[in-house]
Amino acid sequence: MTQRFEGRRVLVTGGSRGIGADVAVAFAREGAAVAVNGRSRSDALEDVLRRCEEAGATAVAAVGDVSDAEQAAQAVRTAQERLGGLDVLVNNAGTLNESPLVDLELEQWDAMVASDLRSVYLCTHEALPGMVEQGWGRVINLTSQLAVKGAPGMAHYSAAKAGVIGFTRSVAREVAQEGVLVNAVAPGPVETDMTDDLDDDWKQQKTAELPLGRFARVEEITPSVLLLAASPDGDVYVGQTLHPNSGDVMP
Ligand SMILES: NC(=O)c1ccc[n+]([C@@H]2O[C@H](COP(=O)([O-])OP(=O)(O)OC[C@H]3O[C@@H](n4cnc5c(N)ncnc54)[C@H](O)[C@@H]3O)[C@@H](O)[C@H]2O)c1
Repeated sequence: MTQRFEGRRVLVTGGSRGIGADVAVAFAREGAAVAVNGRSRSDALEDVLRRCEEAGATAVAAVGDVSDAEQAAQAVRTAQERLGGLDVLVNNAGTLNESPLVDLELEQWDAMVASDLRSVYLCTHEALPGMVEQGWGRVINLTSQLAVKGAPGMAHYSAAKAGVIGFTRSVAREVAQEGVLVNAVAPGPVETDMTDDLDDDWKQQKTAELPLGRFARVEEITPSVLLLAASPDGDVYVGQTLHPNSGDVMP
């Protein structure tokens, strides 16, 4: 295995399962030191840390709810302190639920925007100064094809994820010449606990709509994240959104 990330220090938010867990372990396998964020020090988080260590990497927990200002800042600071700095931030944490807009309560809206958009601002805001100071950094934000396509019952999720794309483009323009590249990855449906929780009829209909005829697996999303973090392979991606989405949208 090539060691594309030897010497790089990476924080993955929401890394205790799903896409985040796969991304954290993949960075570890390719030589990075990894900080894995989760809301708490759960068995799942411990398991990801163990898998990173088995790959030969330094792996530390950076616990906290990244939708909360103080906890997000603390999670980033923990990663910086325990790893001796931070080169790559993967803003992966997010939640998903469905509700027609007429039934969507303000609390549900606010909670979605907090977990899927505010968290991206909070962690990036904390991590960016150190990256600019060292003259190298990569920020990769997980958004969704629903940001582009929309879906019934997903107004809050789609809006938050579309916000992530706008955020990515603006911050990318601010810091590209400081050596910090900010990009996004917009998966289509992926087989994770997040989509497991969705209604079976919805999943069947969604599968039928996909040109590829199937959901992606997490390990089919991870290479897009790693590409955007890799130098020199990813060095001309600035404010872009990559779309590993089984053909669901073709932007
Ligand atoms: N699975 C899909 O089909 C799909 C498609 C498009 C985009 N995405 C996006 O990819 C990312 C990962 O998705 P996944 O399918 O692996 O989800 P998942 O639910 O399996 O994992 C998400 C992780 O983030 C954590 N998390 C959520 N909010 C958090 C918070 N405030 N603080 C700390 N941790 C938090 C969860 O506890 C969980 O461990 C999400 O941003 C999601 O919106 C997923």
